[in-house]
Amino acid sequence: MQNVRQDDGRGWREATEEALYGPAGFYRGALGPAGPAGHFRTSVHASTLFAGAVAELLRRVDAALGEPAELAFVDMAAGRGELVSRVLQVLPEKTAVRVRACAVEKADRPADLDHRIEWRAEPPAGVTGLLFANEWLDNVPLDVVEIDADGVPRRVLVRDDGTETLDAAPLDAAHLRWLDAWWPLPPEPGLRAEVGSPRDEAWAAAVGTLERGLAVAVDYAHGRAARPPFGTLTGFREGRETAPVPDGSCDITAHVALDACAVTAGARVVAQRTALNALGVAAERPSLALASQDPAAYVRALTRAGEAAELTARGGLGDFGWLVEPVGLPAGALLVDVADHEEQ
Ligand SMILES: C[S@@+](CC[C@H](N)C(=O)[O-])C[C@H]1O[C@@H](n2cnc3c(N)ncnc32)[C@H](O)[C@@H]1O
Repeated sequence: MQNVRQDDGRGWREATEEALYGPAGFYRGALGPAGPAGHFRTSVHASTLFAGAVAELLRRVDAALGEPAELAFVDMAAGRGELVSRVLQVLPEKTAVRVRACAVEKADRPADLDHRIEWRAEPPAGVTGLLFANEWLDNVPLDVVEIDADGVPRRVLVRDDGTETLDAAPLDAAHLRWLDAWWPLPPEPGLRAEVGSPRDEAWAAAVGTLERGLAVAVDYAHGRAARPPFGTLTGFREGRETAPVPDGSCDITAHVALDACAVTAGARVVAQRTALNALGVAAERPSLALASQDPAAYVRALTRAGEAAELTARGGLGDFGWLVEPVGLPAGALLVDVADHEEQ
């Protein structure tokens, strides 16, 4: 629990915005040539099976849309463009020629990126296709609220060295409204919540760029029934979890209230393992008979099974949530049997 002090530090939203995206921010300078991959391992980095599954999803969206003349694939918060590059590589040529491939990123375009990929600061408006955002929303800065010693919710202020105090000013009405709707906090000193409204707004704007198609956001998530009592704000540096310090030296991330972000009537959140299974990613080991018939094929299949297991693991990447938003398409038409499986 923190003391209440005045004029000390900034809210986490403002501090994180500068620490990640300001002129000396983590996603601008400190990352080095490897980009985000040098500091943490997303599903995109874990295995090319992930991009294969996204390409399969794009193929299904294409079919549901009736194979439009221009099929957009928007890799939202694209890092170094690894996902969109791989999706283009694995699509059949007859589909790839109709694809408008876009990487949306705050960082600069990598020098060696496939020339077919548009590198943009904002998603293109009015497109038809698939917008896919892997580990974007967890990096959209937000404010943190904590219950003080008197049971009153206060905005947490943070200095550049990461030390925190509580704001003496009353919490503003918009923060209170969001907390009431999505993350009610009992008046127990020390409980914390992350106010997700900036993410809801960012996601609604991204979904709004689709004329028709599907928007998918993938992140570590929690639902209203099981919010973490002390929040999830944390830092990452060079592959290790670290204290969140808003000085540009580390990533700052918090799990996402994906249920609050949902925009369309047909939206739902499913576990990554469910979504990937529906898209054909299976962690089954090959038969031992294959080992004697075709040892090289056996080793390849074994590697694939190991990578699929990592992408779908309980307690790991398989626990990520997929927020799936159909726009002008029937719900459920794309991830087929997902409705029959576990929802998050
Ligand atoms: C955790 S990385 C994920 C990269 C990639 N999607 C992946 O899964 O490997 C988050 C990326 O989001 C980018 N980003 C954050 N907010 C953004 C925004 N509003 N527009 C475009 N890119 C953004 C950051 O620059 C960073 O490269």
